[in-house]
Amino acid sequence: MHRRNFIRLAGGGTIAAATASTLSACGVVGSQFPAEAVEAWNGPVGETDVRRRAVAYAITAPNSHNLQPWLLDLREEGVITLRTDRTRVLPQTDPLGRQILISHGTFLELLVMALAQQGVASDVQLWPQGELPAALKQWDDRPVARITLKPGGKPDPLFAQVLLRHTPKTDFDTARTVTPEVLAQVLDGARSPATDAPLSVGGTVNADQLPALRTLCWESARVELLTPRTMMESIHLTRVGPAEILQHRDGISINSPFVRAVSALGMFDRSAPPAEGSAAYKNALGRFEGHSRTAMGFVWITGPNTRSDQVHTGRLYVRQQLQATALGVGMHPMSQAVQEFAEMAPHFETVHQLVLGRSAPRSAADPTVQMFSRIGYIDGQAPATPRRPLARFVQV
Ligand SMILES: Cc1cc2nc3c(=O)[nH]c(=O)nc-3n(C[C@H](O)[C@H](O)[C@H](O)COP(=O)(O)O)c2cc1C
Repeated sequence: MHRRNFIRLAGGGTIAAATASTLSACGVVGSQFPAEAVEAWNGPVGETDVRRRAVAYAITAPNSHNLQPWLLDLREEGVITLRTDRTRVLPQTDPLGRQILISHGTFLELLVMALAQQGVASDVQLWPQGELPAALKQWDDRPVARITLKPGGKPDPLFAQVLLRHTPKTDFDTARTVTPEVLAQVLDGARSPATDAPLSVGGTVNADQLPALRTLCWESARVELLTPRTMMESIHLTRVGPAEILQHRDGISINSPFVRAVSALGMFDRSAPPAEGSAAYKNALGRFEGHSRTAMGFVWITGPNTRSDQVHTGRLYVRQQLQATALGVGMHPMSQAVQEFAEMAPHFETVHQLVLGRSAPRSAADPTVQMFSRIGYIDGQAPATPRRPLARFVQV
């Protein structure tokens, strides 16, 4: 299940219309994702090439909206060139491409770790042909990174968590607090010389600080849901049921019996955003409300905001999430307040005030909240999300 798991009933039908008998009539059984869609989580089965093996691990990286916006050029011997798939961006919620580049950093970090695990060191050159411009519309094919392989490579203990890491998009257990010691371990255990400077990490599990941060999450989510173009961006990326999930293997995958049944009955209208007050709206808002209310702490990454800083943020973020995985702590980004579209501006200001005690940035040199995540414990395990087949990422 995903954070934007919402239902709009066509013709104003009610959610109660789907009964248990409807579910079985639709042939709807479990909510697990189809095995083929999540095969990436078995690792590089049958791959012998060092670079392809590394890419097979790296495609499990966390990334915004599970767009998987990565293209790899393996045509040059001993080199991996990473580019952005320009069809896989979020113009409405991420108009400056910041989250997409953070999502390249997460990929890069796993790639470097997976190479090191095979005894290969990486010489990472960011922006070998210059940085991508500020406007998404002007993005071209210039590489984000050129990774030259060298002998060496020291295995990283966090690598053991790569195939176990999942983002818990569910309520946390409010009976289990996260201690300050565990918070410190999450933050300290993620450090790495390649990613630290000039970024800072921080967080809180302090009961005095949590209410304002929870409210921020909830109120900023409301803006995203009520702004038609940002809501529609999510709706267009929603995949319901095994057939759609297998067809796309990306985006916001929903496979719960209930939503599948509603969809099978033609009652899940994806042509328009849900109206405020509608059942679908309440459903979506309820999920955000639950996620916000059950946040048992928050962690963040802040720093300047050049294109390189964004990539470094991703490298650091995935290390944080791997470290959290090792500690059994769930880490779930709540990115609404840090999104840079006009309607979000008041919350963008608030998140900077609450986290940094200063105004929102006015230039790339100003301190910026790059990642903002809730933490806590869940019952059981978060599910693996789909990934496209390896061949879709690789140019050979
Ligand atoms: C830059 C960035 C921003 C993200 N923002 C959100 C968010 O606001 N809400 C959310 O549910 N997940 C968010 N995520 C997590 C992604 O949805 C998640 O990584 C993706 O769906 C793949 O799932 P996985 O991490 O379990 O493999 C974000 C991830 C990244 C890298």
